[in-house]
Amino acid sequence: MKRVLPDLIVDPPLADEKVTIVFHADGKQYDFPVLGGTHGPKVIDVGRLYTETGYFSYDPGFMSTANCDSAITFIDGERGILLHRGYPIEELAAHADFLEVCYLLLYGKLPNQSELHDFGDLIGHHSMVHEQFKRFFAGFRRDAPPMAVMVGTVGALSAFYHDKIDITDPEARMVATHRLIAKMPTICAMAFNYSLGRPFLYPRNDLSYASNFLRMSFGIPAEEYVVNPVLARAINRFLVLHADHEQNASTATVRIAGSSHANPYACVAAGITALWGPDHGGANEAVVNMLEEIGSKERIALYIKRAKDKEDPFRLTGFGHRVYKNYDPRAAILRESCHEVLAELGKKDEPLFALALELERIALEDDYFIQRKLFPNVDFYSGIMLRAIGFPTGMFPPLFALGRTIGWIAQWKEMIEAPDQHIARPRQRYTGPPLRPYLPIAQR
Ligand code: SDX
Repeated sequence: MKRVLPDLIVDPPLADEKVTIVFHADGKQYDFPVLGGTHGPKVIDVGRLYTETGYFSYDPGFMSTANCDSAITFIDGERGILLHRGYPIEELAAHADFLEVCYLLLYGKLPNQSELHDFGDLIGHHSMVHEQFKRFFAGFRRDAPPMAVMVGTVGALSAFYHDKIDITDPEARMVATHRLIAKMPTICAMAFNYSLGRPFLYPRNDLSYASNFLRMSFGIPAEEYVVNPVLARAINRFLVLHADHEQNASTATVRIAGSSHANPYACVAAGITALWGPDHGGANEAVVNMLEEIGSKERIALYIKRAKDKEDPFRLTGFGHRVYKNYDPRAAILRESCHEVLAELGKKDEPLFALALELERIALEDDYFIQRKLFPNVDFYSGIMLRAIGFPTGMFPPLFALGRTIGWIAQWKEMIEAPDQHIARPRQRYTGPPLRPYLPIAQR
């Protein structure tokens, strides 16, 4: 999918560009500087708003708030553009190995052959987990949601790897980063196999990241696992497409947790928790459950009607996005990938895929979705593909977390290494009871 690169460079702010806030009550005026980035909207620096005016800015849900500088990912929601360190997602998904993208997000450039080789060795060196770590799984019921297992076990990594956890030490930060990238596929595959009562397989460092994960997930000790290259390419693409996405809810969570200097394992566990929600990374699981509930093309109209009914809590999950008001570029690529996997596995007639395509067609012709610019997002097709490969719906959010770990840890690293790094501490608009004296219980 070749995209002609649009002109994204914005005009830099004027030397002393500013905005002035005028309080009509007393006519006082206050100037605030305007700052520009490489692409995207300029920002009004309101850092001094409270100290100068005594007012807070007010933006619940951060609809219009930039909470940091970042050089990692750029999204243009109106045009459906996603860049990682300037490279279009379409080109990375088509050509890059996931470890290349990990290197790019961490260090800001695509690795040459020897850099990629050395990075792969580094990651491979950390791909196993402590033998005692496996005992954590025994504490969970076999039917525990795999995302609950991920939250618990990833958080527990800090109990095993506290030798390199001083976040003020660059070398310790890098080791923790490599450990998280390397161990997440191993832990994710362990969570999957534990739920099935199957033995854990050790990682194999001679395999690619995606192939290693497939083998640990579906291989059995009794026989050699042969990696299907089409499935390996689909998993690699899935991981690339989920790697990072600017300041989404889970990444913002990781940044805030990290701003207090909590260790990176705890921060990533916090990110997994935030990702779990059905409005975020839990949507891929919800999409397949929704499609199964719809069941047939004849029932699509009923569910479209429900999605538009304000009295009905039902939403067309996998549709809509806080930032994209155009087609999510990742959804288009995943639709292609889904088609390839289904064809490879002889499931071209997979009813859920046909239902999803028809649901998309109908929704995108409906004024309600058109007016609200609701398009399929990254979660709409991914679950159909993952289920065809053999993962149950409960594994879809953990797979999203597997891909997103590099984004979380790259953003955490960028935040920790920022020269003006300090604890994130938002304020509020207080709407509670006014000041009042304590009442002795006899008077209540
Ligand atoms: C991810 O932020 C990221 O980058 C996230 C992510 C990433 O890579 O990290 O891209 C991953 O989380 C993708 C989103 C997965 N979630 C879903 O698919 C859940 C279904 N989508 C919605 O819940 C919703 O679209 C959100 C949560 C994604 C976005 O919600 P917003 O931006 O707060 O939008 P909104 O709720 O204010 O909706 C605007 C309007 C409303 O109608 P009106 O009040 O204007 O009449 O659109 C409606 C909503 O009711 N609407 C939907 C809808 N999504 C929004 N109506 C029906 N079905 C939907 N899916």
